[in-house]
Amino acid sequence: PWSAKRAAEIIAAHAGCEGPALPILHAIQAAFGFVPEAAEPMIAEALNLSRAEVHGVVTFYHDFRRKPAGRHVLKLCRAEACQSMGAEALASRAEQALGIRFGETTADGRVTLEPIYCLGLCATAPSAMLDGRIIGRLDDARLDRLVAEAQR
Ligand code: FES
Repeated sequence: PWSAKRAAEIIAAHAGCEGPALPILHAIQAAFGFVPEAAEPMIAEALNLSRAEVHGVVTFYHDFRRKPAGRHVLKLCRAEACQSMGAEALASRAEQALGIRFGETTADGRVTLEPIYCLGLCATAPSAMLDGRIIGRLDDARLDRLVAEAQR
């Protein structure tokens, strides 16, 4: 769970690094599973940045989660090679099946849908990842099975 004390320790441990914002954000996400909004002003103050600057970094990088993830995390690759193999249609299909948009979690807390930008599996595009397991050659049927598996 979120703890301001723990966040302050993480910030202090990294504040001396060169370019400390990203290491701090990664460490915060590793500790809490997401980057809580309450951490942003703490980081801003420690690094002498504005809150808007910190917020800009958090929202710019797709790696950072703004809310805790669901029980399962389904990532669909939305980079070029996968796009050329129909990833956009699969992305819409996943959004429809789950009733959420990318970056959101289903209301029952079961599935978070996130984009990912190249899994290094372009040869077997389109690709996806469910809870860290990589799946290639996605098509409608395989996507439906993945979505069903994630919802269990
Ligand atoms: Fe999707 Fe490389 S572009 S795996």
